[in-house]
Amino acid sequence: MESYRRLLKNNQIWAENCVDRDPEFFSRLSKLQEPEFLWIGCSDSRVPSNEITGTRPGEIFVHRNIANMVVNTDLNLLSVLQFAVEMLNVKHIIVCGHYGCGGVKAAMGHDDLGIINKWLYNIKDVRRMHAAELEAIPSEDKRFDRLVELNVMEQVKDLAKSSIVQRAWAERGGPHLHGWVYGLNDGLIRPLCEIEAGSEMDPIYRFDGFVKVER
Ligand code: CO
Repeated sequence: MESYRRLLKNNQIWAENCVDRDPEFFSRLSKLQEPEFLWIGCSDSRVPSNEITGTRPGEIFVHRNIANMVVNTDLNLLSVLQFAVEMLNVKHIIVCGHYGCGGVKAAMGHDDLGIINKWLYNIKDVRRMHAAELEAIPSEDKRFDRLVELNVMEQVKDLAKSSIVQRAWAERGGPHLHGWVYGLNDGLIRPLCEIEAGSEMDPIYRFDGFVKVER
C-alpha cells in the first residue's frame, strides 16, 4: 500500500472511533472552537503538540515553525497570535522547544543553508545575547541543550514585548506566557519559565496608553 494511503485509512478508523466514543464529537466541534491554549512549537515531526499533552481536537490552537520562533516580522506568527489572543481569548501561550532541535543545531554551525540562513539569524541573535554563558559550557552537547532552553526563554520574552500581548494584559489580564522544553529521548516536558500577565518588563519594550478597541 502506498504510504500516504495509510494516512487516509487511519483517518477513517480514527473518525469512527471518535464517534463511537462521543456521537456528538464532530457536530459540536464543527460549530465552534474554544481552545484555552496557543501552542508555538517546532515543526519537528517528533513533537506533536496534541499527542504529547494528551489533548484532543479543539483544545490547542497551534502554530509551528522551525525552532519555535516568535519573529516580530513574521506575518504568519503575528496573525496566529492576534487571532488567538483577541478572538479566541486564549488563557495561556506556550512556547515549546525541544532538545536535539535541528534548527538550533544549524544556528550553532556555519553552513550556508540558503534561505534558512535568514530564519536562523534569529537564533544566532539569541546565541550572541547569551555568548558569555554559552561559551563557559565546555561540553558541546550541554551547550546545545542550553541554547535550546535560552532560545525558548527569549521567544517567551518576545511574546511579552509584542503590543498584541501587552494590549490583552491591559484589557483582560491575560494570557499567561510559558516556556517549555520537550525531551525527545524521554517524552517529558520540562517547564523553563513563566511570565504572568501584567508582569514587570524591561521598560524599553513597554507600551503605554492602550485605548480599548471594539472588535
Ligand atoms: Co526543532
